[in-house]
Amino acid sequence: MTANTRTDDRPVEIEDIGTNPTSNPSFTDLIASRLSRRHLFGLGVGTAGTALLQACGGGGGGGTAFPVLPPAPAPAPAPAPAPTPAPSPAPMKLGFNAVAKSLADVVTVPAGYTASVLYRLGDPIASGVAAYKNDGSDDPTTYDRRAGDHHDGMTYFGMNASNKWDPVNATRGLLVMNHEAITSTFLHPAGQTIVSGARTVADEVLREFYVHGVSVIEVNKTGSAWSYKQDSSFNRRVHTLTEMTLSGPAAKTEYVKTKYSTDGSKTRGTVNNCANGTTPWGTYLTCEENWAGYFRRTTATGSTPKEDLSFRRYGVAGSGSAIGNGRELWATVTPDTADNLYGRWNCEVVGATATDDYRNGPNTYGWVVEIDPFNSSSTPKKRTALGRFGHEGACLGPVVVGKPLVWYMGDDSQNEYLYKFVSAKAWDAADIGGGIAAGDKYMDEGKLYVAKFKADGTGDWLELKLGVNNITASYSKYAFADAADVLINARHAADAAGATKMDRPEWTAVNPKNGEVYLTLTNNSARTVTGTDAANPRSYNDPKGPSQTAQKGNPNGHIIRFADAGSDPAAVTFKWDVYLFGARSTASADVNLSVLGADNDFSSPDGMWFSQAAPGLLWIETDDGKYTDVTNCMLLGALPGKVGDGSAKTITNVDGATTATQATFVGKAPGTDGLRRFLVGPVDCEITGIAESGDGRALFVNIQHPGENSPDATKPDTFLSHWPDGAKTRPRSATVVITKNDGGLIGL
Ligand code: FEO
Ligand code: CA
Ligand code: CA
Ligand code: CA
Repeated sequence: MTANTRTDDRPVEIEDIGTNPTSNPSFTDLIASRLSRRHLFGLGVGTAGTALLQACGGGGGGGTAFPVLPPAPAPAPAPAPAPTPAPSPAPMKLGFNAVAKSLADVVTVPAGYTASVLYRLGDPIASGVAAYKNDGSDDPTTYDRRAGDHHDGMTYFGMNASNKWDPVNATRGLLVMNHEAITSTFLHPAGQTIVSGARTVADEVLREFYVHGVSVIEVNKTGSAWSYKQDSSFNRRVHTLTEMTLSGPAAKTEYVKTKYSTDGSKTRGTVNNCANGTTPWGTYLTCEENWAGYFRRTTATGSTPKEDLSFRRYGVAGSGSAIGNGRELWATVTPDTADNLYGRWNCEVVGATATDDYRNGPNTYGWVVEIDPFNSSSTPKKRTALGRFGHEGACLGPVVVGKPLVWYMGDDSQNEYLYKFVSAKAWDAADIGGGIAAGDKYMDEGKLYVAKFKADGTGDWLELKLGVNNITASYSKYAFADAADVLINARHAADAAGATKMDRPEWTAVNPKNGEVYLTLTNNSARTVTGTDAANPRSYNDPKGPSQTAQKGNPNGHIIRFADAGSDPAAVTFKWDVYLFGARSTASADVNLSVLGADNDFSSPDGMWFSQAAPGLLWIETDDGKYTDVTNCMLLGALPGKVGDGSAKTITNVDGATTATQATFVGKAPGTDGLRRFLVGPVDCEITGIAESGDGRALFVNIQHPGENSPDATKPDTFLSHWPDGAKTRPRSATVVITKNDGGLIGL
C-alpha cells in the first residue's frame, strides 16, 4: 500500500517540466448602477466614456451590474454631451498594515479584519448528508453532495429574492468554485490503496472522481456573518462523471469521437479545474489545466504518427516517451464497469476504431467549460473555439455594447504561451441572463490568437487559423488538416506561428480602470542565463533554506502587463512592460528589480484579480515553493499604475561563471504604498481563488491543500498542518471569508 501524493505543483508535474520542444523565441456596458457605484466610492470612470468593465475570475460585481437595471440604450452617435465636471476623486490608498511573513499554521490577516472559515473539503451541500468525519470513512456515494478538494478559482454571483442574477447583491449569492486536484493522503483511511501499481479499492476512486470539478453553493450574510445554505436548491457539484456537451468547431469531428459519444457531441466530466472566468451574461467558466496527466497510455501501438505528436506536445502520459500509467492511476481499476468508468481514462488503441475505445479521450479535455450556476439542471458546455491547452483561466476583457467580447487565457506549463479569444459577434446587452444559449452565440465562433512579445516593448497577436502564420499541412512539426485540428492542437499551432515562450503563464486579470491586462508568470526553472528574452528577462540562483539548495532559472516569477492598441481588445498589437518581479527583499538589485521590502516581498505569483467594487485594487496570490523557507504562501493588495510608468533597464544575469545582460522594461517600483502583504496562509498551502460580495465588503479566498506533503494519514503527529480544524485533525482545503470589523471595503 502506498500513497500517491502527486499534485499539480510538484516538481515532477508536467507544468514544471514543459513539453514545448520548439525553438520559438522565448519570449459593460457603462450602466447607471456601475457608474453610481464608482461615484459612491469616489473613483474615476473608465476611458472616454467607454466601458472598461470586466468580469473575470472571482468577479464580485463581475463588471456585471447589468441585470440590476435595464441595459442603457445605445449611445446616440453624435454629438456627445459635454461631460459634467466631476469632483477630483481622492487617490485610492491601501488601508491596512502589512502582515508579516510567517511560517505559522494559521491564516493571518491585518489588524481590524476577521477571517472565518466558510466551506471546507467534505462539507455537505444537500439535506440529509452527514457532517464530514474527515478520517477517510465517509460514504463514497455522498461525495457528489460534498465540497470538493483543492478549492481554486472562484466567482461570486449576487442573487436577488427572485433568484435572478444581481451582481451587486451584498447579502446573498451563488459562490461557484473550482476543485482542482486532491490530497489523496487525507481522502482515504491511509492514503490510496495501490497494489502492484494498480488501484484496488474502487470506492476510493469514486471519492476521487467526485471531489474534482466545481461547486455551486448558495451563500448568505446574516448580521455580519456569512454561511452557505446546506439545503439550497442551487447547490450543485459538477465532477468527473458529469455529462458535458462539446460545442464549437471541434465538436462532432473525428478527433473527439469516443465509445461514449460515437458522434463526438459529448464527453464525461471535467478535471484539474484551475482558474476561472465569467461571461457578461452571467455564467461561469471553469478551465481545465493539467488534464493531460490523468490519462493512461502504456503503449503507443496503433496510434498514428500525428496522434503521437499530439499526445507528446500536451504531455499525455508523460512528457518524453508519451507513455505512462496516469496520475491517480484511475484506469487501473479492474474489472471495469459496462460504461467504462475507469477504462475511459485509458487512451491506448484497444478497439477496432475510435468509437470502440477512448483513444480520443484526451481530445475531449483541455478546454474552457461554461456552467450556468442559475440552472442546476443545465448541461455544461466545453467551448472548443477557445482552443485546447493547459488552461489556467479565462479573464473577460472590457465589455462594450457593439464590440466583440475578449477573453485572455494563460497556458500554464514551462515555456508555454498567452492566448486571447475574440468573439465574432458584437456584444448586445439584451443577452444578459441568456445562460448557455448566450454562450452559443459568443463563444462558439471567433478568432483565437497567441502572443508574441517583442524586444522593443510592443507585441503582436498572431492568429491561429489554418492557412495563416505557418499553420498549414506543410508545417514541419505537425501537418494541420482542418480548423478543428488547429484548435485541438493549439500548442502546435502557436509553435508554428512563432509565439513567445513564457515563464509559466498563470492567471490573467483586466484593470477595470483602463482595460490593461496583467499576466502572472509564476516561475520557470528552465530559463537559462543565455536563454532570457525581454519579456522573460531574469535567470539567477536563489538559494533556499539552511542547505542553500540552488533554485535556478526564474524561481520567483514576475507579472507582465500589456495594453492592446487603441484600448481595443480586438487589436492585433499591444504595448507591454513588467509590472512586478517576485524576489526576496534581500536579493541583489538585478533580481529584486521591483525593490521589494519586508512588507511586500513575495515569490511565485499565481492567482490574481482586480476588485470590481474598488476599481484599481489588485489582489495577488502566491503558489510558492521557493521562498517557503521564510514564509507560507500569501495574498497581497496592490495599486498598480499603467504600462510604461517605469523605464527601460538592462539587467545582468549570473549563474556561476555564466553572465549575460538582458534589456527589458520595468514598471515603476510599487513601494509599500503600492503593494502590501494582506494575508499569510497556513503551512504547505497555496492561496488561490478570490471573489468579493457585491459591495466589496466581504472577500472570499481559497486556501488550497494545507499540509499536502504530510507523509502519513495514520500519524497525526506528522501532519504538516492541522488547519482549519486544529490539533490532531487532518488538514482540509477551505474557503475563508474576510470582513473588515468596521464593515468597510476590504483593502482600502
Ligand atoms: Fe493550477 Fe497553474 O495552477
Ligand atoms: Ca494548486
Ligand atoms: Ca494556478
Ligand atoms: Ca501555480
